[in-house]
Amino acid sequence: MTYWEAEWNCPSNGNEQLLDEARFWVQIMKEHAMFIQMGLPGCDTELIREAQAFADRFQVLEDVLNDVTSIGPELLQDLRQTVMEFIQYKRQLLRARIQCQLGGGLFPLLLDHITREAVHFLNELERGRPMMAASFQQLTQEEIFWLRIMKEHLEFIIHLLDPSERSLISTAEDLKDRTAKLLETARDLGSMTQSQPAAFPTLLRFTDEVLSTITVVRDFKATGYELALLCQVLSIIPTPLLLDHVRREADRALEEISMLLSEAASR
Ligand SMILES: [Fe+2]
Ligand SMILES: [Fe+2]
Repeated sequence: MTYWEAEWNCPSNGNEQLLDEARFWVQIMKEHAMFIQMGLPGCDTELIREAQAFADRFQVLEDVLNDVTSIGPELLQDLRQTVMEFIQYKRQLLRARIQCQLGGGLFPLLLDHITREAVHFLNELERGRPMMAASFQQLTQEEIFWLRIMKEHLEFIIHLLDPSERSLISTAEDLKDRTAKLLETARDLGSMTQSQPAAFPTLLRFTDEVLSTITVVRDFKATGYELALLCQVLSIIPTPLLLDHVRREADRALEEISMLLSEAASR
């Protein structure tokens, strides 16, 4: 039996979903390692070397995941181990930044943000995808996670755009305000789900609003990426890839929330 052919004791559709998750997140993790490398001060050669090593490890995992049709136990263990080590590395950088022992262009909130994304991936690896219909609580938890991520993407973009880019900044601020309000509401509705309602029509209506707002955010990022490729935007965004990265995360948010919505609506 080869490395990845062993059966994992999970229903096959669960494993398929996990494979899809892993393919998405491993590419995201590899890009985090690249962004970290770009943001570290040139003199921090050891930290830069470590970031490169993580980029290489995630590249190998990405190649393996593109070759397999399911995730065997060894591959799963390899994924978990690499993500756990990467979480530790990101936390080490954040700690150093907070304690003013690290310079460079990495916002502390960006380090916290990419750590949360890695923890989200690790949680998916730990539990696999839920097989039963999603609960209202799961739906709100997913919304809280993604709306916070979307709000922060807009905050990072606002801070990285050149101050002369007034109209793009104002569009981003408007979207950030809308996302922040939805996040607050998602937290309210999330705490209401603790009463375990049999039906929650308002949550379903709210989720439609979440999906349509994230779609607008996704389109804004896609436009930003096109502008950056054409060199038609002034900013200190280190690479256009960053805009494509956050656009892909918005698409992932739409997929995950839509899936949970249709499961919750069919309860
Ligand atoms: Fe990310
Ligand atoms: Fe992100």
